[in-house]
Amino acid sequence: MLAVIGGTGFSELVGLEGVQGEDIETPYGMSYVEGGEIADVPVLFLPRHGHPPRFPPHRINYRANIDSLARMNVDEIVAVSVVGSVDPLLSVGDLIVPDQIVDYTRDRDGTFFDDEISHIDFTFPYDESVRQKLISALQSLPDDRYQTTGVYGCTQGPRLETAAEVRRLTNDGCSIVGMTAMPEAALAREKEIAYAGISLVVNSGAGLNDQEIDLDGISIILEQGMLRITNVIEALIRNSL
Ligand code: HPA
Repeated sequence: MLAVIGGTGFSELVGLEGVQGEDIETPYGMSYVEGGEIADVPVLFLPRHGHPPRFPPHRINYRANIDSLARMNVDEIVAVSVVGSVDPLLSVGDLIVPDQIVDYTRDRDGTFFDDEISHIDFTFPYDESVRQKLISALQSLPDDRYQTTGVYGCTQGPRLETAAEVRRLTNDGCSIVGMTAMPEAALAREKEIAYAGISLVVNSGAGLNDQEIDLDGISIILEQGMLRITNVIEALIRNSL
C-alpha cells in the first residue's frame, strides 16, 4: 500500500475520499495516520508534523511515524516537503524529485537498530522505482516546473541557515535545503519501505539574494505548490491502475 507523508502546508491529502483518522500507538510513541481512497485505490496519509500540526522538524517522532506505516503494511512512501533552493538555477515554485541526501541533522532518533548490529545500504537513499513513478506522473501533467534530480541537504533547524551555511551546502553539492528528509528516509529503508520525495521550493536559500527570508510571505506559493503536488500524487495513483 502507498502512503503519503505530508509536511508544511500539506496537512491533509485533498482528494482522499472516505477519510478515517487514527492515533496509532507504537513502541516509539504515538503517530497519526489517515486512511482513505483515491480513484478507488486505498491510500494512507500521515501528516509528519502531527494532527493538528504542532511538532517542529527536530521534534517530529520519525520512528513512530515510520513504524506505524510499516505496521499498516505500507510498501511505498511519497514524502512531501518544502525546501529552500541552494542551486541558483532553481526558482521559487519549482518541484524537485531529489535523488540524493546530505544529512546535517543531529540528536534525532535515527534508527530502529539500537539493540542489534545492523547496517542498511544507503548509497541511493531514495527508491528509484518510486522516484520514476513520481517523474512519470510529472511528465503526464502540463506542469513543467520540475527537476528530476537534486541533492537534499537536511539541516537540523528549526532556524533557517546562515548565508555561510548555504555557501557550504553549495560546496557540498546540495541543490535544495530542508529539515525533514532525515532520519525519515533512513528509517523507511530500515523497514524496507520504498521511499521517495517531492519537494516544493518556497524560498531562495539564505544569502542567495540580498533579502532576508520571509517564510510568512510564502502562503500563495505554498497553496499553489501543494495543489500541484496533489495533482502529481493523483496522477501517480491513476497511472499505476
Ligand atoms: N532552509 C531549510 N528548510 C527550509 C527552507 C530553508 O531555506 N525553506 C523551507 N524549508
